[in-house]
Amino acid sequence: MPILTIDDVGTYTVPDDQRLVLAIEQQGVDILHACGGNARCTTCRVEFLAGEPSAMTRAEKDKLQERGLTGVRLACQIRCDHDMTVRAISRLAGSGRADAGPPPAAEIQPPPEWV
Ligand code: FES
Repeated sequence: MPILTIDDVGTYTVPDDQRLVLAIEQQGVDILHACGGNARCTTCRVEFLAGEPSAMTRAEKDKLQERGLTGVRLACQIRCDHDMTVRAISRLAGSGRADAGPPPAAEIQPPPEWV
């Protein structure tokens, strides 16, 4: 099972292939997921400190390009299939939002096309 390290939070063993956004949230981190994990909002963005996946879903690639975002990845579009270290930079605390967003499904949505 992969080891997930969340900067300034802790290091955890997480289930194989768990969505990163869910793995982070289940460690008690208030990561945002305003669109419910559908690659539409970018509020689940994280910075990778180690183990950034080379593969990306088409939905993530298109959304990052559309928003002009670099140096971040969308946690809802990543599976925990190897060890990784991330910084959870988009949090409910201080966001002014009422909640983190609808719960993301267990599987990556939309169905991933890997690029
Ligand atoms: S893009 Fe909205 S939760 Fe990931």
